[in-house]
Amino acid sequence: MKNFIFTFILFTFLLTVNAAQFQLNKRAITFQVCSPDFTSEFVNATIGTDPPKAGNPESFNVSGTLTKCNITKGQTFLRIGYTDFSIKPIGDYYVQNFTDNFKVGTPFMISASNVPTPQQLPGQYIIVVDVGDPTRDPNKPVIFGCAFAVIGGSSEEFFDIYKLI
Ligand SMILES: *[C@@H]1O[C@H](CO)[C@@H](O)[C@H](O)[C@H]1NC(C)=O
Ligand SMILES: *[C@@H]1O[C@H](CO)[C@@H](O)[C@H](O)[C@H]1NC(C)=O
Ligand SMILES: *[C@@H]1O[C@H](CO)[C@@H](O)[C@H](O)[C@H]1NC(C)=O
Ligand SMILES: *[C@@H]1O[C@H](CO)[C@@H](O)[C@H](O)[C@H]1NC(C)=O
Repeated sequence: MKNFIFTFILFTFLLTVNAAQFQLNKRAITFQVCSPDFTSEFVNATIGTDPPKAGNPESFNVSGTLTKCNITKGQTFLRIGYTDFSIKPIGDYYVQNFTDNFKVGTPFMISASNVPTPQQLPGQYIIVVDVGDPTRDPNKPVIFGCAFAVIGGSSEEFFDIYKLI
């Protein structure tokens, strides 16, 4: 009987460790292309505190290579926003201007070290990162590059909801 209990406890422990590892893997935030039919290019991002803590400033590094647009200092911006699964914004967008020029086709990197995290975060939400330009030139897209990450759910789940709205 004692042996059985020991085995059972060990088994439960192993299950718990496995579950914890699984959740850790599941929690790691990865950014992906905004949507296949979206005209902007992919930018990638890394995040300092993963997952973000509500109310605590977050750091982001955003990088990529834009093949259609120049990044112009003081004009092109980086924007970071949180939304729920219905794409309703949570809090305000964070906006930061580029302070360097990056010619079309050259890799860029921009760090944002003090991005406010919303005071309240639902169990499932989206982080959207985009790079754009406020220019009104109709031949130039306003959003050059974009990526999003799903936290607390799967991107399949998100796209299923996204299709409904
Ligand atoms: C984005 O960056 C992460 C971390 O460096 C990397 O693992 C991932 O493959 C990148 N995603 C794409 C689509 O390049
Ligand atoms: C951003 O890049 C800098 C320099 O490479 C690095 O020190 C920092 O840890 C990075 N931060 C994030 C959030 O990835
Ligand atoms: C990028 O900027 C250069 C000048 O530095 C210009 O010649 C070129 O047309 C621009 N390309 C695009 C796609 O805006
Ligand atoms: C960012 O650039 C825009 C023009 O594109 C300007 O109106 C705004 O004041 C700039 N913001 C900062 C913080 O420099």
